[in-house]
Amino acid sequence: MKLLVLMSLVYLLGSTEALKVLVLFPYAVKSLSILGTGAVRHLLNAGHEVTYITVYPLKDPPTKNFRQIDISKNAELFKNDDSLTIGYVLEHQVQRTDPLQIQLVTQESARLTFENENVKKLIEDPNEHFDVVIVDLVETETFAGLAVLYDCPMIWLYSMGAHWQPLRLIDRATNPAYDPDYLSPAKNPLSFLERVDELWTRIKWQYRKTFIIQPEERKIYEDTFGPLLEKRGRTLPDYEEVIFNASLIFGNEHDAVRDRPSTPQNFKFIGGLHVEEPVKPLPKEFQDLIDNSKHGVIYFSMGSFLQSNSLPKPLVAELLRMFGGLKQTVIWKFETDLPDVPKNVHIVHWAPQQSILAHPNVRTFITHGGLLSSIEAVHFGMPIIGVPVFFDQFTNIKKAVENGYALTVPLSHNLPKDLKAAIDVMLKDDTYRKKAKELSSIYHDRLTKPGVKFTHWVEHVVRTRGARHLRSPAWRVPLYQRLYLDLIALVLASVYLFFYIVSRLFKKTPKKTDKKKRN
Ligand SMILES: *[C@@H]1O[C@H](CO)[C@@H](O)[C@H](O)[C@H]1NC(C)=O
Repeated sequence: MKLLVLMSLVYLLGSTEALKVLVLFPYAVKSLSILGTGAVRHLLNAGHEVTYITVYPLKDPPTKNFRQIDISKNAELFKNDDSLTIGYVLEHQVQRTDPLQIQLVTQESARLTFENENVKKLIEDPNEHFDVVIVDLVETETFAGLAVLYDCPMIWLYSMGAHWQPLRLIDRATNPAYDPDYLSPAKNPLSFLERVDELWTRIKWQYRKTFIIQPEERKIYEDTFGPLLEKRGRTLPDYEEVIFNASLIFGNEHDAVRDRPSTPQNFKFIGGLHVEEPVKPLPKEFQDLIDNSKHGVIYFSMGSFLQSNSLPKPLVAELLRMFGGLKQTVIWKFETDLPDVPKNVHIVHWAPQQSILAHPNVRTFITHGGLLSSIEAVHFGMPIIGVPVFFDQFTNIKKAVENGYALTVPLSHNLPKDLKAAIDVMLKDDTYRKKAKELSSIYHDRLTKPGVKFTHWVEHVVRTRGARHLRSPAWRVPLYQRLYLDLIALVLASVYLFFYIVSRLFKKTPKKTDKKKRN
């Protein structure tokens, strides 16, 4: 009997610790899903029960405590969009992605997610409950409705770093004078014109958000969650209250980064979360190839979202010829087989990127500068040559150049020549590698690994029922109060009134007018 009580006690203690977590990565962007899968892996390792709503269902899903909900249909949003290929960008020289386009795409992703039958089945089931909801944050906040539905804390996982957009949700938007937009080419310190441009960018963004985007998102929120809550006998809270109610935001950035704005206590950096530790051993063919490259290896990959096979064929041929002239082994991740590949070039359809970057014989990494690749470069202390294509890649590469471990080459028809020049510099000049190693040591010098930190704060939020103690009071103070515009208005009004009264008083005394006339 005693044993039974003890056993059930142990069971109860154990089960209260295991959380039911809903993780949602709604965007058809492969690298984001890599981050999501990393988060899921850490939660499972900590013994929690995870429901993962994903555009890219895992092929080999864990069998225990794990369920995935397929929203691969969301990928249809990008299917016919040629503007998202390297080839398109090369021809059109797009330098800055239009923020409105991103806002609309994320909004559409939210609509598609809630319309998905698999998701509908989940959210319409009154027996489902979760202890916490974790959602990938890109522009739209509509998904916060899930935390309302399950009456549990809301956590955002932001794939980028500390930045005014996520910060405005839990604290206040940082000052544009030193926190340029993530799509902006400007860097600190900003010139007068850049500061004006950043301010204008914010005003434009806020205008669109308030008058175009948010009304539509409110409608999606109300249409989706209104009936669901009604069925459960609850009333739907106002959308404005819900979107500013997150308990915590995780930022996919790390401590080695410079020039980032200060953050509130409920913004936590977990950059490197997706990196698998310990590093998986290289498959034999890669291991042999890299081990036996006397002059080192150059690794070239444009990430998972950009397909390098949209590059024009002559350009690819020219790149191959250029690589063929190098002494180094080149591993190029490319989606299709190519003709006339030089002996030192190895085209691979898939590459174990993290394990390659961990190999000391790899000399440099040519990358589009996606966030995950940028973090991996710092993690493994690898200097990079960045060929940014769009979105935040320009910012990431710009930061890497500023931090001294990267060179950048524009995507153009001159790519082979420019790339060759950059490779020559990189191979001759050791400062880039040294700087990468230095940043890597700063990055690794931390109390805990990002996965441990991540699960700790998720658990903390649940244990403390939403971690209200971490919330900054700033977000609920309107701009006019923060800028003391009311005080300024009062002072101006008083001064005006004072002069008005004085002038009236003097007008009434005829002596003064006489004097004036005489003068
Ligand atoms: C805000 O979050 C807290 C903590 O998770 C929750 O108790 C509260 O109901 C939420 N408020 C709204 C309006 O969703």
